[in-house]
Amino acid sequence: MNRSLDYSLLAKLTQAFGPSGNEREVADVITDSIKDHAESIVTDTMGNLIVRKKGQGHKIMIVCHMDEVGIIVTHINENGFLYYAAVGGLKSGDQVSKRVRFSNGTVGIINKEKDDTVEKKSEKLYIDIGATNEQEAKELVSIGDMAVLTGEFLETENVIISKAVDDRVGCFIALEVIKNITSPYDLYFVFSAQEEVGARGARTAAYTTEADLAIVIDTTFSFDTPKKVQNRTSLHNGVAIKVMDRSIVVSPALKNWMAKIADANSILYQWEIITGGGTDSGPIHLTKGGIPTGGLAIPVRYLHSGNEMVAKKDIIAGIDLLTALITTPLYFEL
Ligand code: CO
Ligand code: ZN
Repeated sequence: MNRSLDYSLLAKLTQAFGPSGNEREVADVITDSIKDHAESIVTDTMGNLIVRKKGQGHKIMIVCHMDEVGIIVTHINENGFLYYAAVGGLKSGDQVSKRVRFSNGTVGIINKEKDDTVEKKSEKLYIDIGATNEQEAKELVSIGDMAVLTGEFLETENVIISKAVDDRVGCFIALEVIKNITSPYDLYFVFSAQEEVGARGARTAAYTTEADLAIVIDTTFSFDTPKKVQNRTSLHNGVAIKVMDRSIVVSPALKNWMAKIADANSILYQWEIITGGGTDSGPIHLTKGGIPTGGLAIPVRYLHSGNEMVAKKDIIAGIDLLTALITTPLYFEL
């Protein structure tokens, strides 16, 4: 299939503010973009946004997370510098000299404390928002406030670069599908909250939805940068079909069904096998008596860095495969 896509919605999604537990701005962008294409849109207690496209047959839940990694302010010192903890898997090596933005627009720069005794920098990180003292800083930021890494949206011929590609690209894929399909199934699109702190939103959404099948769309590591292992998930090689991660072993019948549908529709795919990292698929497949759960993963370079890179080709393969999966009658036993 050949698609040319308008990525302006992805730009809006990635630039929205949405650290874990603060997904409202992202949810609003999503609601705005599909309100004419769904039977119902509800927000649950956890902050999950659940979009229903009613249909007859099996109940299928499609899940992608709205939240992004960020930081939370733990202390403000007398000179107006902020101290913080990570919210989700932020690597400290990725933080120095990066900018962060709070929901009120306040921007700060992360840097390392200097070590008094030695002429080098310590490992301790702080945020400089340009305040001259504690009082001034507290007018802009409070203890407990969260911020996200900034990273403007850029589009080239082949790739997208932005903050929060994880997992707004999954949301984008789901939205493109919602806008364009009619499916024989009863579809629940769950835009989940708090994935980055332990897949919490998806857990309760899976319990209430009681789907017959769940398909999770998230990002995955790209192993194709210099000196890394080749022949594993990489950019420009298509959508990845999840086989295993730290939180799930996908049933062979389910992953093979996905691959068969991809083959039948000439959709470029690769296998995702990782030993670290989990996604919403973990808690979902363990809900109640167990829910058949599979995953589509989009390879992304520099995950959680504020400058994440994804290939357009892989996004398109993701849209094509999700579309094919939920419009083709299921032929394996659920
Ligand atoms: Co992530
Ligand atoms: Zn993710």
